[in-house]
Amino acid sequence: MIKINDNFCKLPAAYLFSEVARRIDAFRKAHPGVDIIRMGIGDVTSPICQAAVDAMHRAADDQLSEFTFHGYGPEQGYSFLREKIAEYDYRSRGVNVGIDEIFISDGAKSDTGNIGDILSRDCKVAVTDPVYPVYVDTNVMSGRAGELCDGRWSRIEYLPCTAENGFVPALPVDNPDVIYLCYPNNPTGTTLNREQLAKWVDYALAHNALIMFDSAYEAYITDDDVPHSIYEIPGAEKVAIEFRSYSKTAGFTGLRCGYTVVPKSLMGVDSDGREVSLNALWNRRQCTKFNGASYIVQRAAEALYTPKGQRQVKETIDYYMRNAKVLRDGLTEAGLEVFGGINAPYIWIKTPDAMSSWDFFDLLLTECNVAGTPGSGFGPSGEGYFRLTAFGRYENTVEAVERLKKLKF
Ligand code: MLT
Repeated sequence: MIKINDNFCKLPAAYLFSEVARRIDAFRKAHPGVDIIRMGIGDVTSPICQAAVDAMHRAADDQLSEFTFHGYGPEQGYSFLREKIAEYDYRSRGVNVGIDEIFISDGAKSDTGNIGDILSRDCKVAVTDPVYPVYVDTNVMSGRAGELCDGRWSRIEYLPCTAENGFVPALPVDNPDVIYLCYPNNPTGTTLNREQLAKWVDYALAHNALIMFDSAYEAYITDDDVPHSIYEIPGAEKVAIEFRSYSKTAGFTGLRCGYTVVPKSLMGVDSDGREVSLNALWNRRQCTKFNGASYIVQRAAEALYTPKGQRQVKETIDYYMRNAKVLRDGLTEAGLEVFGGINAPYIWIKTPDAMSSWDFFDLLLTECNVAGTPGSGFGPSGEGYFRLTAFGRYENTVEAVERLKKLKF
């Protein structure tokens, strides 16, 4: 029989969001006809904006003619999109990112998961805790995580982010080679300001660490002092890879498009001590394993940078952030302690009476028919917390708050 990658057997049986979906489905089957408000996985509910849909129609028509048809595209993405990214997402913020430092992908989940391909299996990893499970699970798959013991992987350094430290992680003590940061943060919905993020860049520069910076939620930033890109911090181009996504920005969770920036000044070292460009390695990896995001989807992403696209994207983000405010205000009124939701579409709730995250999940599902995500699913420091997303319909969000208020915490 074929030998398998043993690391997969070390993983918990199900990916967090699959397990949440399984439990909701089981509840639905046991209680047919019950109206469950789903605020678990951060999937969007607003349709794709007109500018992007129009662009997709045009791109689909391109495929009808031998003169405008597009087959395989560049693995790195089309320059029409990469140029817009360099100009609107970076130059407009005073950051210089070259076109050849931008790699279009089918989303940040894939890239944050795949990026480990270019790193040594020996690299030590640090994550903020709680954390988006993809970072940890993919390091388990590639054999970097060690063994699972009391909910912690032995070779991963966990950097707790809790109400006690204001959700600002302390700098690592175990000299990690790779540090995953996600800001605005999934799942806590909190952020780091410029000064706080600069400490991480300085740390990485001083300790030769590589920061994997996931800024999938940057479009939700409202505070001026919160950087949209890690490259706004001087020196970050020597220590950070940045991941972006159109999923939460423009409702592309189904369309699939995002991008990763791997600066050319980012160097690694091989086992003979020779310096190697990470940009070159990622390019090599992508050319081999990825055939690029589809032409039609990249045209849709390009349209988001037009004035019409920008306006329509902002309308949708404002819609979700109104939900976030409804959740923050309503749940606080209901007697719960809540965090996040100001620069991010996630609300992080302290469970009442030290209830466990899964018990609170069950309580909300059975008593209110509201489904969220248990904080403990995101890591040990998520225990005693619970996440709701602001990505629902406004009416459902208001209704969910009304149902929760009846519980009287
Ligand atoms: C989440 O709910 O954390 C996200 O939707 C997951 C993802 O983006 O993959």
